[in-house]
Amino acid sequence: MKLSLYLTGVLLGTTLAYPGMGNLIREILKRQADDTKVQMIGDLVERATSDVGTSVESCLSGAISCQDLTPNSYVAPDLTSAACSADTCCVWNYISNDLVTLFSNSDGTCNDLARAAVRLGFHDAGAWSTTSGGGGADGSIVLSSDEINRSENNGLQAIRSQALAILSQYSSFNVGAADLVQFMHNVATITCPLGPRVLTFIGRPDQSTADPPGLLPNVSSPAEVLIQLFADKTFSSTDLVALIGAHTAAKQFFVDPALAGEPLDSTPGVWDVEFFSETLAATPPAGVFRLPSDGALAAFAETTPDFTLFGNQGTWNEAYAIAYVRMSLLGVQSINTLTDCTKVLPNAVTSFSRK
Ligand code: HEM
Repeated sequence: MKLSLYLTGVLLGTTLAYPGMGNLIREILKRQADDTKVQMIGDLVERATSDVGTSVESCLSGAISCQDLTPNSYVAPDLTSAACSADTCCVWNYISNDLVTLFSNSDGTCNDLARAAVRLGFHDAGAWSTTSGGGGADGSIVLSSDEINRSENNGLQAIRSQALAILSQYSSFNVGAADLVQFMHNVATITCPLGPRVLTFIGRPDQSTADPPGLLPNVSSPAEVLIQLFADKTFSSTDLVALIGAHTAAKQFFVDPALAGEPLDSTPGVWDVEFFSETLAATPPAGVFRLPSDGALAAFAETTPDFTLFGNQGTWNEAYAIAYVRMSLLGVQSINTLTDCTKVLPNAVTSFSRK
C-alpha cells in the first residue's frame, strides 16, 4: 500500500525527469519489499515522534521519495546575521556553495575530491552494524587520526584535510564533523551530473574515538559475504547494488597500484548508469578497472537482475537515495531531533553532455 502511494504520488516529478521509470520503480520497490520487512534504525525503531522522524520513516519504507527534486529557492541571510543563526540550515548553504566549487571541473563534471567525498561518507557511516555497539555516521573518520590511517581508508586523507579545514573555517557556527561528512557526500553526488538530490539532515552527535574495526567491505570477498555484511547494517541486497553504483564516479589507486587512477566505469565524472552495464559485460571497456567485489555481485544470481534494473537512471537514483538516507543515519540514535536541510542543496542536473 505504502509503495503504491509512493509510486502514484511522489514520483510524478521524477517520472517526468526520467520518462518511463514508473514500471522500473515498481520493480525495485517490489524487490525491496520482498526481501524482508523494511527495518527501522536509531530511535525510529521505537517510533517517529517528529516531522523529520516521520519523513525519514516514510522515505525508508517507500511511502515518499528519499530525494527532493524541488528547485532550490533558498536565499541565505548574511552568515553573521541573527536571521542566519536562527536557521540551522543557513550556514550549510554557505558550506554547500564552497563545496560545489571544490567538487566541480570546468566542463561540468565532478572531480577527484567529489569522488573522495562520496567514499568518505560511506566509510564513516558504514563502519557500523546492528551489533557493533558503536560507530556509524559520527564523524570519527575525520576526528580520529587512528581511523583515517587504517588501510581501508587509504586515499581519503586529502578529503579529510578539506573537511578539517571547513570545520575550522566554520568553527563558530556549530558545524559538526558527523553532519559535515554526510553533507559533503550529498553535495558531491549532486555535483556529479545526473546525481541524486538526497534528503539531507543535520544534528548528528560527533564521536572522536575510532569506529570498531572490520566493518567495511573487503574487495576480495565473495558476493554472499558482502551481502551478509550489508544485511548486518540493515541493507537489502538490492540496496547494496544501488550503493555500489557509486562506483560510477570512482577510480582505484590501491587495489592495483600499477593501474592507479583507472576509473571503475568509462565516465567517472558523471553519475550515469554506465557502471552497471559495463560491470555486467564479460570484460570491462579498455582502461576501465573492475573491482573483484563488483564483478562478484554482478555475477551472483541474487543480485545480477539489479544491475539490469539500475540501467534506468531514475530508478537507480531513487534506489540510491533510499539506501543512502539509511546509510547517512546509521548509528544515529536521535533521528527525531534532526533538522531537514535539503533545501540548501544545489539543483539536480538531469541531463548532461560534455562542454
Ligand atoms: C561491496 C562494497 C564495496 C567495496 C568492496 C568497495 C571497494 C572499493 C575499492 C577497493 C575502491 C578503490 C580504492 C582505491 O584503490 O583507491 C573503491 C572506491 C570507491 N568507492 Fe567503493 N566499495 C564498496 C562500496 C562502496 C559504497 C557503498 C560507496 C558509496 C556509497 C562507495 C564509493 C566509492 C567511491 C566514490 C570510490 C572512488 C574513490 C576515489 O576515486 O577516490 N563504495 N571502493
